[in-house]
Amino acid sequence: MKLRILKHRVRLLILPALILIAGPAIGDPKDYLRPAEIPAPSNNHLTAARVDLGRVLFFDTRLSGNNQLSCATCHQQAKAWSDGLAKAKGAAGRLLKRTTPSLINVAYLRHLGWDGGFRSLEQQALIPITSADEMDQGMDELIAELGQVPKYQGMFDKAYPDEGINADSLVKALASFQRTLISGEAPFDRWLKGDEQAISESAKRGFSLFEGKANCISCHDGFSFTDGGFHNIGLPEGEDLGRFKIVPVPVLKRAFKTPTLREINLSAPYMHNGLYKTLAEVVDHYDRGGVTAHGLDPNMRPLFLSAQEKQDLIAFLHTLTTEVSLEQTIVGEK
Ligand code: HEC
Ligand code: HEC
Repeated sequence: MKLRILKHRVRLLILPALILIAGPAIGDPKDYLRPAEIPAPSNNHLTAARVDLGRVLFFDTRLSGNNQLSCATCHQQAKAWSDGLAKAKGAAGRLLKRTTPSLINVAYLRHLGWDGGFRSLEQQALIPITSADEMDQGMDELIAELGQVPKYQGMFDKAYPDEGINADSLVKALASFQRTLISGEAPFDRWLKGDEQAISESAKRGFSLFEGKANCISCHDGFSFTDGGFHNIGLPEGEDLGRFKIVPVPVLKRAFKTPTLREINLSAPYMHNGLYKTLAEVVDHYDRGGVTAHGLDPNMRPLFLSAQEKQDLIAFLHTLTTEVSLEQTIVGEK
């Protein structure tokens, strides 16, 4: 571990220009520590009552027009709050354009959605409820429906005194619950804290590749392994223009949000279009430097990894998933 840090110090000294291109500081163990606080907006600070209410709402199928879908239909805990499908399936079985992202560590994201179209969890939560393709629910009807459920009156009163049951308190509660979906302590974290046995030698080599030769760190950095930015990583070109639709500058054509790599074992298939079923396929994609070079992010290039190096990289990615049995932590509706 000491050696590793020393190596980075040296690199910091001799390659300042490269570091600038690569983005944020590299390799300091404290860069990977979970921030002490969960951020929340000043008009919706976190309280236990808000989180409890949000949890019950998140699992409530009343939130959909046909009373069959809840948020948790697509965002399932056992799959890091995604659904295992290449394309999400909404009301009446309609396929959506993109895959359901993991909700792990969403509290820390500045832009939500694969194209970053939403600025807050509160704003985002309205969309799936009312969208015809997703839950297809009229908001007025939903508020009336929730008002008739005895448990909700007490819960809303406790969570948002004097605000009543309305679209605003509904999305604030959903946002509060989602802010608590935070990754647990993974083997990687125990290793960072000094437990040399926590991860294999192969995974340690994989981490060096991740920060070095494979340059994954230029986009997947920090505690949640995301820069919060948008990049075109050379996936086969489809009609989906990603971030470009929100911010129409050429470099953002087919750029999508860098996803977290926390709990990554659970959230396959991968990418906004669910193209890759395994981490081995993902690593092959990066090894090739992308499938198409058109509009490719400058930090993407062929890596020429050996079979062993690919294995090492995958072994490292595996260390980012918490090992606690899900039965012990199952959230569900109380
Ligand atoms: C039919 C499946 C489905 C349902 C139901 C659903 N979602 Fe999603 N969710 C998705 C998909 C697909 C995306 C990606 C959308 C995009 O980027 O275009 C998404 C994106 C999100 C995001 C952004 C996450 C990120 O990493 O940027 C949040 C937050 C979210 N959903 C919360 C919710 C909440 C809250 C509900 C219930 C009110 C809900 N979802 C219901 C499929 C679903
Ligand atoms: C240029 C920035 C960039 C670099 C470099 C990069 N990634 Fe990514 N990564 C992304 C973006 C953006 C996505 C989502 C792309 C999409 O869906 O269109 C992604 C997706 C992924 C996913 C799928 C996550 C999910 O939930 O779907 C994995 C796993 C991954 N990257 C691992 C790696 C590894 C390992 C490396 C190094 C070999 C790497 N990345 C290098 C930006 C980058």
